[in-house]
Amino acid sequence: MNDTPIKTNLDEQNLDTVLRPSSFDEYIGQDTVKKSLKIILEAAKLRKEPIDHILFYGQAGLGKTTLANIVANELGGNLKITSGPAIEKSGDLAAILTNLEAGDVLFIDEIHRLNRMIEEVLYPAMESRQLNIVIGKGPAARTISLDLPPFTLIAATTRVNMISNPLRSRFGASFRLDYYSVPDISEIIRRSASLVGINLDESAIGSLAKASRFTPRIANRLVRRARDLAEVRKLGLIKTEDLSDLFKILDIDEYGLEYQDRRLLDIISEQFNGGPVGINSLAAALGDDRDIIEDIYEPYLINLGFLKRTSGGRVISEKGIEYLKKNHDSQN
Ligand code: ADE
Repeated sequence: MNDTPIKTNLDEQNLDTVLRPSSFDEYIGQDTVKKSLKIILEAAKLRKEPIDHILFYGQAGLGKTTLANIVANELGGNLKITSGPAIEKSGDLAAILTNLEAGDVLFIDEIHRLNRMIEEVLYPAMESRQLNIVIGKGPAARTISLDLPPFTLIAATTRVNMISNPLRSRFGASFRLDYYSVPDISEIIRRSASLVGINLDESAIGSLAKASRFTPRIANRLVRRARDLAEVRKLGLIKTEDLSDLFKILDIDEYGLEYQDRRLLDIISEQFNGGPVGINSLAAALGDDRDIIEDIYEPYLINLGFLKRTSGGRVISEKGIEYLKKNHDSQN
């Protein structure tokens, strides 16, 4: 057995940067999205023009920022990152836009949280690279127009249906990022394990993939926690048995379900006889925000086939009932 299993000397903060792929070659999964992006980039390079504005949507942690980073790298421009809630006044957006340089990529995360007045400033900037600023108030107010350098906007959202039509129609391409396949997430885990210098056996990779919620950000977090375990226990090779302890410490189960996910299923089953139950009643019973239920808990529970959304409300599935039974049996 190897007494010094951790080969690299990386602190936690650096790990994030190290694990994040910086080129398409390093990026695993989302093949359709990658293929389309490569064509868009290639065509823009041939025409020597900036690429069209792009919208990425999908669950948190699926790689929206990572892809924006890769696109900026491919274009050789800087990536300037901001988010919908951070832009409070139209002046904030004006400052960001006037600071852009030719070829820059502006990334606006959570764009659905941009207020409508500010959206209006964005439209001419996206369409004709014009920034219209109103100076003064009342009858003396006038608008001046500034030319902006050629830039590309990449926006991301977890809630595409909250984006207004006028904004949505101004993107040249929209891409939906989906949960990763088991082989792809396993490959990401393999890559990350090797970058942080740990050895996982094949069944441990399978266990981590199953618990990753098919989401690279979570997979990488698990790899980092596995690295801690390897370090503390001096494990040269991490096996599935070692991971069961880790999952207990993290309070997740084999599917990566956390306490609130399991409680959600429990509540539907026990308090609402399996459903259907409306989202507001469910939120009240769970004591959590409706948004968190809809954006975080539900999509994955639905993906696992444990939960269904019907016109009458949320219903637990056969598979969900079986899961709860097994969970309860193993606790008793
Ligand atoms: N780390 C996070 N996302 C990744 C991806 N898609 N491919 C490789 N490593 C990753």
